[in-house]
Amino acid sequence: MIGICVPFVAGYFFVIRGGMPVATKGEPLPLEKFVANKALHAAIDKEAGKPAPISADESNLLIGARIYQEQCAVCHGHLGRPSSAIARGLFPKPPQLLPPMKGVTDDPVGEIYWKVKNGIRLTGMPGYVDSISDTEIWQVSLFLLHANELPASVQRVLRP
Ligand code: HEC
Repeated sequence: MIGICVPFVAGYFFVIRGGMPVATKGEPLPLEKFVANKALHAAIDKEAGKPAPISADESNLLIGARIYQEQCAVCHGHLGRPSSAIARGLFPKPPQLLPPMKGVTDDPVGEIYWKVKNGIRLTGMPGYVDSISDTEIWQVSLFLLHANELPASVQRVLRP
């Protein structure tokens, strides 16, 4: 009984005495990254294999790029610009998703789609399910998947 209670009591005192890092500058807790990654993948893996119901043609990539510029670039980066104050101040940091960074170009498109649709709790990543249409979520997901091989017309949308 005591063996079970001690870790809970210790955890409680750790939290109420201010031991828990709550500022964005704090380091992750031991195991925090591991648990967060495991939980995320356990939730996503069932759906990650979903193929995109639309093709990655130029018109879909163009719409994806416009959505990205409007909704995502403030956190995930504008082409050729240093990361924004918002991106620098978040914990965890939003990964920069445009070249020369690899971004999510080697992830399954279904996984990108899941993250954009549902967001990632307790991070700055919003879920877009109530804000943009399902087709638009696929368009921006395909855009990110092909971020390292975009046609010139799409690259122009990304330049200031
Ligand atoms: C307010 C900031 C913010 C905005 C706006 C935002 N994101 Fe994110 N996003 C994040 C953060 C923070 C993470 C990292 C979450 C984590 O560490 O688990 C993230 C993670 C992601 C990932 C997973 C990256 C990876 O390496 O697996 C994708 C994909 C993504 N965002 C796409 C988008 C798209 C598309 C949009 C716009 C429609 C968008 N995000 C808008 C903050 C943001």
